[in-house]
Amino acid sequence: MSKRYFVTALLAILVLSLRLAAQGPSLVIQVDHPTAKVSPMLYGLMTEEINFSYDGGLYAELVRDRAIGQDRRALTHWTMVARGNSMVNISVDSQTGPSTALPRSLKVSVTAATETSPAGVQNDGYWGIPVRPQTTYSGSFYAKTDSAGTPVTVSLVNDQTGATAASTTVTALTGEWKQYTFTLKTGQVPVRANNHLILTIPHPATVWFNLVSLFPPTYHNRIHGNRIDLMEKLAAMHPAFLRFPGGNYLEGDHISERFEWKKTIGPWVDRPTHPSPWRYHSSDGMGLLEFLEWCEDLKMEPVLAVYAGYSMRQEHVDPGPALEPYIQDALDEIEYVTGGTDTKWGAERARDGHPAPFKLTYVEIGNEDWFDRSGSYDGRYAQYYKEIKPRYPDLQLIATAPIKSMKPDVLDEHFYMSAEKSLSDANHYDKTDRNGPKIFVGEWATREGSPTPNLQSALGDAAWMTGMERNSDLIIMASYAPLFVNVNPGGMQWETDLIGYDALTSYGSPSYWAQVLFNRHLGTEVVASTLADAGPRVYTSVTRDEKARKLFIKVVNATSEVRPISITLDGAGKVKRAAMLYTLSGKTPNATNTIANPEALVPVEHKIETAGPKFEQRFEPYSINVMELSY
Ligand code: AHR
Repeated sequence: MSKRYFVTALLAILVLSLRLAAQGPSLVIQVDHPTAKVSPMLYGLMTEEINFSYDGGLYAELVRDRAIGQDRRALTHWTMVARGNSMVNISVDSQTGPSTALPRSLKVSVTAATETSPAGVQNDGYWGIPVRPQTTYSGSFYAKTDSAGTPVTVSLVNDQTGATAASTTVTALTGEWKQYTFTLKTGQVPVRANNHLILTIPHPATVWFNLVSLFPPTYHNRIHGNRIDLMEKLAAMHPAFLRFPGGNYLEGDHISERFEWKKTIGPWVDRPTHPSPWRYHSSDGMGLLEFLEWCEDLKMEPVLAVYAGYSMRQEHVDPGPALEPYIQDALDEIEYVTGGTDTKWGAERARDGHPAPFKLTYVEIGNEDWFDRSGSYDGRYAQYYKEIKPRYPDLQLIATAPIKSMKPDVLDEHFYMSAEKSLSDANHYDKTDRNGPKIFVGEWATREGSPTPNLQSALGDAAWMTGMERNSDLIIMASYAPLFVNVNPGGMQWETDLIGYDALTSYGSPSYWAQVLFNRHLGTEVVASTLADAGPRVYTSVTRDEKARKLFIKVVNATSEVRPISITLDGAGKVKRAAMLYTLSGKTPNATNTIANPEALVPVEHKIETAGPKFEQRFEPYSINVMELSY
């Protein structure tokens, strides 16, 4: 290029850049031009037993290892108590238990004890047993004794001070296995997590125990229900569905360790419990019916994952006759969820306390079957489809890996990303072929921050969500994973989890708040919008709710600078000047919430009085914003 042309080109570029700079970043929205429907089921929850999500988490049971099950050998959370000169020995007795499912027990042999120096056993809970003032705790245990008439005193005692917060005595045990219930009422005690539960006996005797249990008040006062603070946090997310029971927890490490739903229903004494792939044993207190009742409490639709013949240590069941019993199990499970009381499994559900069937639209066949190196998934999915679809034509059957032999109803895709990846890949679905299956993003997360995501992750998540929203004609559902983590040492098996807690309190991560903001302002249709000259790391999605005449503008500013954006609303007619801006932001991308500082970052509401067909709005550095306008 000659010098003259080079200078001319340089000048042209300069003039254009100056013009663009003068114009500044802009977002032009065609309010009257919807481009797609927003899936009303877009945001939901994914859950499994990981990070002490249920035991030691949502499921409000306070006693750890309550079931002395088949593979309970060590009594890690049970220790002996001997006051004064009393003497006691505790062990696992594999000769006697309260049921066929639980054929073992905790044997407490007291050889010396008095009323003032009793002896027995104690449980340390899930990193302590939380105690609150003026609270009633409901408890129970199965027991038998070699000395009829033996009483058992149950007390909540502080680990450090030895102060008793509440106590009661269950009288007259017999020689037969029987369940006993009791309540513990606290008075004006301080709120503390460092308590344990003690069961003591005032004279020499042997007592066998199993299923020792203690529950605090629960959400909606469900018997053996869920923790109130965690359910309230979930309710604030307005989730449309719950995908359960996994994840890897569905599959198990081995076929024999899969989630066998039939072993998770009915009285606890009929639930043998099972090892979870996340290196601890599940009580199965959160069984199939409890999952469904959790859905009921939060008005979510169940997305039921059924075991499909693959477990994580590369064990699989070949398609064909060998797979039939597993398919029958899935059919029975669907009947348990949806069947009338005139069906075998619907009647079983009624016996378990829930006569009304549950609404079910989505059934997922397996989990992450792309890991199955045998290549059997295509055949397995097709066989499940062939058996389920004719019986339940309205069910949508989700595949967990691409299928070549047929088009699945829905395909589940998972994304665990760095912040850089979720930001740079926020357009992931913009060009995806609309003739393929609908997509369920059944697991996704930006994984920066531990145990819970920091603001950097939340920015990545929010950018990623703008992409899912824009494409929600294709992406019918999406759920972040994992949902929960117990933040105590040893509580976490998977880093970067949405909501953290200990025995007493809980908090939402910045990513949690990003989801609350997005889902509360979902809208019903995507509208056309063009973002120009905003530079990299700025993301938007715009939806409207035509009935409510509301427009929702989401702007993610993942840069370190304020971004003023000129916003034009074309085709809106009259736009009200009063609008709302909800912002989650922080000073640095590393900013985060913790159990000690749970609300360092929470959304802030601003009233705006300057909205209109064309207006300017500034967006803070490192910020996730939702504007709600009326037109
Ligand atoms: O969310 C944690 C795990 O990640 C899930 O159990 C599994 O499906 C995925 O690999």
